[in-house]
Amino acid sequence: MKDFKNIGIVGAGSMGIGIAQIASTSGCKVFLYDQNVEIAQSSLNKLKKILERLIEKKRINSNKRDEILSNIKIVSSLNDLSVSNLIIEAIIENLNIKKDLFSKLETIVHKECIIASNTSSLSITNLASSLKNPSNFIGIHFFNPAPLMPLVEIIPALQTNINLLDSIRNLLLSWNKFPVIAKDTPGFIVNRIARPFYSEALRIYDEQIADFATIDFAMKEVGGFKMGPFELMDFIGNDVNYAVTESVFKSFYYDPKYKPSLTQKQYANAGWLGRKTNKGYYDYNSSSKNVPSKDVTLLNLIFERILVMLINDAVDAFYLGIASKEDIDLAITKGVNYPKGLIAWGEEKTFSWVEKKMDELYENYKEDRYRCSPLVRKWGNLIK
Ligand code: NAI
Repeated sequence: MKDFKNIGIVGAGSMGIGIAQIASTSGCKVFLYDQNVEIAQSSLNKLKKILERLIEKKRINSNKRDEILSNIKIVSSLNDLSVSNLIIEAIIENLNIKKDLFSKLETIVHKECIIASNTSSLSITNLASSLKNPSNFIGIHFFNPAPLMPLVEIIPALQTNINLLDSIRNLLLSWNKFPVIAKDTPGFIVNRIARPFYSEALRIYDEQIADFATIDFAMKEVGGFKMGPFELMDFIGNDVNYAVTESVFKSFYYDPKYKPSLTQKQYANAGWLGRKTNKGYYDYNSSSKNVPSKDVTLLNLIFERILVMLINDAVDAFYLGIASKEDIDLAITKGVNYPKGLIAWGEEKTFSWVEKKMDELYENYKEDRYRCSPLVRKWGNLIK
């Protein structure tokens, strides 16, 4: 296995410090750089508090805390990253600023050093093109909060030397993560195939079929999801969730499947962002309870419509070579905590059922959004 003793991290915001915690906990030396050294220092102070809490909860002892902290060194110049075997970039989500950073880094590091981006929405292939030797460049996409979220997507660029995949996979396994490999396409795996959970829920609301509380209740009660779509959007933030949907929609050349919701845009524009503003789809200052409908037919209809859209998109992602079946299901159970993998769920419900439900939706709306994946049809026909 390649030696990953020294890890450079650029950008010490919420993702950078989280990744620093993971690497240092596993015994790597971390060199943490931020253009604003005060941010790096304040992130490190936050990490110290997190470690104190972990001690209180008896998850680590004080020796482990000391070891973790002694493994992290804040550095004040990019040149100090020259000893790195791997550099993970977690700076602002801006293509040109990231590209500029990578071409600078390439002049600093030794030629075996792997340079990775934690971007959630930019093309890894496009970022790789900023390097003279892009074969050592790769996407390593952690989820927030990085120390707690088990999933990590590994995304090779077109230019990436594919031998890197195994070494990065093994490194992430040694960091106790669940790595999956994704093709460099918009949203990678999770941010692509989880979209219908939000967008179909919003569409059901827009069609006045049910209110937020009923849609959430259907997904939790019938589907076994831990959170309903509106609770989850309030948790993520309507601004953030809307921005991801819009970015995926634009990157797919306006495929109607990913069309953002005007309702969500209005909520974001109103500043009703969710929990962080105490108001989103729900009012977190109010003590009045939102009472969902208990109409079983309605609850089933809502659950099945959202589920079938999710399964259809997951199968389509496999059809289009975005990831293996196993990685698609791992991504969805470890990245967004769904009760079952979507392809496994499709097998359980049968793909002929998925096909029938998708065709019913298409017949009703005549919208491309509801097109059935050719692979769902093929798998559905196999067992008819
Ligand atoms: P953040 O805003 O918390 O931190 C970014 C840090 O980068 C700031 O401390 C800033 O001072 C620093 N920075 C900006 N430009 C820099 C430069 N040129 N050189 C050095 N430092 C620079 O951002 P966050 O949330 O940590 O996100 C970082 C990256 O991770 C982004 O690409 C984002 O898309 C990605 N990401 C974010 C997730 C999230 O939920 N926040 C989840 C997964 C990926």
